[in-house]
Formats: sequence, C-alpha cells, structure tokens
Amino acid sequence: MKSVRVGLMGLGTVGGGTATVLLRNAEDISRRVGRSIEVVRAAAREISEQTIFSADSNVKLSDDAWDVVNDENVDVVVELIGGYSPARELVLKAIENGKHVVTANKALIAMHGDEIFAAANAKGVSVCYEAAVAGGIPIIKAMREGLTANKIEWLAGIINGTGNFILTEMRDKGRDFADVLAEAQALGYAEADPTFDVEGIDAAHKLTILASIAFSIPLQFDKTFTEGISKITTEDVTYAEELGYRIKHLGVARRTDKGIEMRVHPTLIPEKRLIANVDGVMNAVLVQGDAVGPTLYYGAGAGAEPTASAVVADIIDVARTFESATDNKVTSLGYQTGQEAHIDVLSSDDFVTANYLRLSVDDRPGVLADVANIFAEQGISIEAVIQKEPEHEGDKVSLILLTQKVQEKKMNAALAKVESTNISDSVTRIRVEQLD
Ligand code: HSE
Repeated sequence: MKSVRVGLMGLGTVGGGTATVLLRNAEDISRRVGRSIEVVRAAAREISEQTIFSADSNVKLSDDAWDVVNDENVDVVVELIGGYSPARELVLKAIENGKHVVTANKALIAMHGDEIFAAANAKGVSVCYEAAVAGGIPIIKAMREGLTANKIEWLAGIINGTGNFILTEMRDKGRDFADVLAEAQALGYAEADPTFDVEGIDAAHKLTILASIAFSIPLQFDKTFTEGISKITTEDVTYAEELGYRIKHLGVARRTDKGIEMRVHPTLIPEKRLIANVDGVMNAVLVQGDAVGPTLYYGAGAGAEPTASAVVADIIDVARTFESATDNKVTSLGYQTGQEAHIDVLSSDDFVTANYLRLSVDDRPGVLADVANIFAEQGISIEAVIQKEPEHEGDKVSLILLTQKVQEKKMNAALAKVESTNISDSVTRIRVEQLD
C-alpha cells in the first residue's frame, strides 16, 4: 500500500522532534494509520548542518521551502518555520497545490486562519494545528470534539511555557528574569523573538484560537488585550504569596452578558487551585462548560518532542482520512462555514476583575484614607490591605491592596487619580481571578 508522503518545512527544535518521533514510532504509527508515513522532502535554512536524516536516507533535502510545497510527491506539508510571512504564502500555495497542511504556527493561525481555512475548504484539503496551542496538550481536539456538546462559559490557561518557566524560577529560586529567559532560549522553548513570550503576544495568539473554538467566533487577534510579565518583581511574587496567591501569566476568555472578554495578563490565582501549581514549562487549560463543569488539561507546553507529539498526531489524523470512506466533518474551528456566532468582543474598559495593587506611599497618617476616598468615588471596595514597615525612617512604604471585582474603566480612573495626586508615583496592578 502507498505510504503517506510528508514534506517538512523547518528542521529546528520542533522539526527535529517531529522527524525523530516519526522515525522512532514508525511501526506503531503505521499500525494505527493502516499505511506508513514517510518523510520524502525536508527544507531548512542551514541544510548543511542538519543531522536528523542520515546521508543515505531517501529524504530529499533543500534550503528552499518552496521546493516542499511544489513537490508533486508530497501529500502533507508540515509547516514548522513560524512567523507570519512567508509561512502564509507557503501554506496558501501548498493548499492551492492540493496538499494537506499541518502547522504548529499559532501566529499564522491567529492572524490568517480564517483565510487559510476558507482556501482549504474550497480545495477540499485539511489544515491541522494542534501543536499551535499548549504544545503537547491535545486541547484543540478536546475542545473541538470532546466538549462540543457544551456551551463554553469561560476558559483560562497558562499557555506560554517560557513565561511560566520564568515566573516559576523567579519564585522558587529567586533567579533573575534575564538569566532564566536565556535558559528558556537555550532549551528551545522561546520564540525566535522572545518578546513574543514575555510580552504575552504568543499567549494572545493561542488565546485567540481557543476563544474562536470556544464561542464559534471568527479569529480576532487584534481584539485580544495583552499585557506581559516583564514588570513583575520578586516583591510582587512575595506579597502575592502572603495573601495566599500565586502569580501566573494567564489567558482568559469569558462569555459575559455584554460580549466576550479576551485577555492575557499576569494574574493572581488562589494558591490552592490546581492551575496555580502548574510550574516550569508546563501548560494547563481550565475549561468551564455548562454541561460538563470544569475540566483541566495539563502537559508540556513547549519543547521538541512534546510539540512533535501534537504535530505527528495531526499528520496521523490527516493520513487516516486517506483510508476512510467518509469525509471528516470536524471543521477547522469546530463550527460549520457561515454558522459563526455574532457576539461582540469587549474592549478592555468593560472587563470586570478583582485587582492586586502595590502602591509606594509616604509613611504618614491619612494616606490610606486618601486612597480609600478615591476608590470610594469610583465605587471600588477594598477587600484586604497590607502595609509594610519602611526599612529606614522617611522611606516610602509599600501599600498592598486587594479590591473586589470592579469594571476596568473605574479602576483605571481611580489609579490615574492616585498617580496624578502624587499619593503614589506609579501603581503596580495585577488582576485577580478566583477561577471557581
Ligand atoms: N514559545 C512558546 C512557549 C513555544 O514558550 O510556550 C510553544 O508554543
């Protein structure tokens, strides 16, 4: 029986992992598919340095990815280059050439997914992207298929391994931000541009995709609110712990009466929640469905073989359709073409969350009353207060406040007044989620 012929674009961390897993597990995979899966073509920028395929293998190597999408012997193109362009052009060309596509590229799907899925639909080929979100966790399959009976109410995820690795090392070992980031890069966790990890862009790409599946809405990356972790200090980590919380970089998508919140930001989570204890490069996604209740998915969010696990699963899914008499009716985002829900995505002014605030104030009587008055003007209730002793007389003191849930617009107005009246030059604000 003919094998399913794969063309790989990109032989970096994930490309290397994909080739390794396909070769190592070839026997099990062909038992599951009913055919063998064979890499026939591979492209990488530095082809002379590649060591994955031995010199005597049948894999044709090239330093030009266009050779892969235009190779008539390739059935499935696997895009592991990353970034928006030329990934978009290559994928669209592969589809035009009648090839199925598997990609780990979250930026590509979040930005251009609707265009790519429409092209694939018109051509009758599949585009699969399980590895684009949460590395090895099969969250796309879980949401698009396993939870498809549910109305999804909200989801919250730690969906960037690099960011979680940094926060964990800072908390557990007091390590320096830049030092941990360098290690994440060396381990192959970080994006080509690591600001995508630390500023939340990578997580926003992933959240955009999850929200689209959860709420049957088109992909709207430009409407996802994004705040990174680069301003989190070890002080905040310590104060959060004193209050019984952990700081995690969370992606949250929530259905509200007014519309959908899509937001990525550092978040205080009660330490007793399972998701607050997801550490290192591990990812987790908590999904609340109306029928099933809360479900939690956990696993490695980055790295060569965990991500390859998802890439190869997608190749297998595509390969199985070669053997199947029926069409695969699970659409790319889970809803049928033309059946998208028309629900507004809310602007950040309309988000409603509780907040952790750290102010740096003069050590004088009445300062807390001044802050409380400003908050009262906006109808903001304070839930807890911690005031730290100054190290030396005359030093500013840290004032830590936890607020109850409040509309973001009101919180912003209060913080602007605290800053403009010089009660505190700047305020650190971290949103709080109970996730119960
Ligand atoms: N840079 C990403 C992360 C890789 O750290 O999660 C996996 O998408």
